[in-house]
Amino acid sequence: MVGGAKNAALPVLAMTVLTSAPCNISNFPQLNDIHSMTSLLTELGAEIKLDGTHCTVSLSQLQTHIAPYDLVRKMRASILLLGPLLARAGRAKISLPGGCAIGLRPVDQHLKAISALGAQYKIEDGYIEAWIDKVQEGDFCFDKPTVTGTMNAIFLAAGLDTVARFKNCAVEPEVIQVATILEKMGASIEGVGTKEITVRGRSNLDGFSVGLIPDRIEAGTFMVAAAITQGDIEIAGVEPTHLDAVTQALSQMGVEISYDKSCMRVKNSQWPLNATDIVTTEYPGFPTDMQAQIMALLVMAEGSSIVEERIFENRFMHVAELNRMGAGIEVRGRQAIIPGGRRYKGAPVMATDLRASAGLILAGLAAEGETEVLRVYHLDRGYEKIESKLFGLGAHIQRHRQE
Ligand code: EPZ
Repeated sequence: MVGGAKNAALPVLAMTVLTSAPCNISNFPQLNDIHSMTSLLTELGAEIKLDGTHCTVSLSQLQTHIAPYDLVRKMRASILLLGPLLARAGRAKISLPGGCAIGLRPVDQHLKAISALGAQYKIEDGYIEAWIDKVQEGDFCFDKPTVTGTMNAIFLAAGLDTVARFKNCAVEPEVIQVATILEKMGASIEGVGTKEITVRGRSNLDGFSVGLIPDRIEAGTFMVAAAITQGDIEIAGVEPTHLDAVTQALSQMGVEISYDKSCMRVKNSQWPLNATDIVTTEYPGFPTDMQAQIMALLVMAEGSSIVEERIFENRFMHVAELNRMGAGIEVRGRQAIIPGGRRYKGAPVMATDLRASAGLILAGLAAEGETEVLRVYHLDRGYEKIESKLFGLGAHIQRHRQE
């Protein structure tokens, strides 16, 4: 069973700051990143009740407009509090989220978007300090689509008595979910799911009740797990339309994928699989968050392939580790050249970031001999009990120790 989407849960938690009314969130995943965000909300004065996969957040009285470094450094998606805090308190002070293993992760688009609505800001001592003295109607075209940048922009506009038009927006399913919730809260939004969004906001938004969309990246990771082990599995609780690019790529490789409502069957009836080239792009293109996972599979396909990473500048950290297992991959700038036709040999490998860790686990599932993946705490940021879910599917996997 796939859990609620991490990248929906984080913005949905952040947008609870937009209202003093209670917010109910179901299909709520238990992940380290989620815990970091709930700790931040508690710091801001929120009362949070967690019961299994249900979470209630009430922020009736904002205690502070500051998101401190020691909490933000754990999770850069804390930047998602910028728009909601500015709308709620008229000011926000958020530690500048650092880069991470996969890239510099700038926030210039977030800052340009809030400025279009009249916000001013300064960056001092590692903090973004922003404030709004006079709200203005806004028009802003993103220089490039950004998921959390689009979210921050519509959060701010929805919480102000203003009208804002945004162009070149991200259209990921997680953006659609948060825009839909903003409408439930009382904002009116045109263009949900398109690259042009017009928001008519209001300052006293209502609370909301929502069930989070399923995690398409967790689902995709398990699809590859079935393919790389020549398995035959069913994955429940998926939203098929969110997985078109991944389904297409795996089908091109020869994996059989069928759906019955929200249940997907993934069967690897052909071996070796065919090679196919992959280019990561914004949704609905092939997701960058599935790049390490599909690469692990392409190593074993018959024939060479190229994986091009167009979203992040340093998202090939898993290549060196896969090569320790016999992958033979060569990196040339934004492209990884995969010779294919390889069989993995188990080895001790090091996880560097959330999705790279998943790629290494997948390679380990297919490797001859034992693979030890170190620093698996990266995994826990985005996958809930991945080893027990894989174990339940027949994998020989266990967690040694908490580093
Ligand atoms: C979201 O990150 C996801 N995180 C990422 O998932 C995902 O990889 C990414 O979108 C792309 O799909 C969350 O939703 C919490 P972007 P985000 O802004 O919003 C550049 C995971 O593993 N950019 O869409 O930070 C940026 O450098 C994580 O779950 C600017 O230049 O990504 C990148 O090249 C990893 N300026 C591109 O845009 C900005 O102000 C897309 O980044 C913002 C972004």
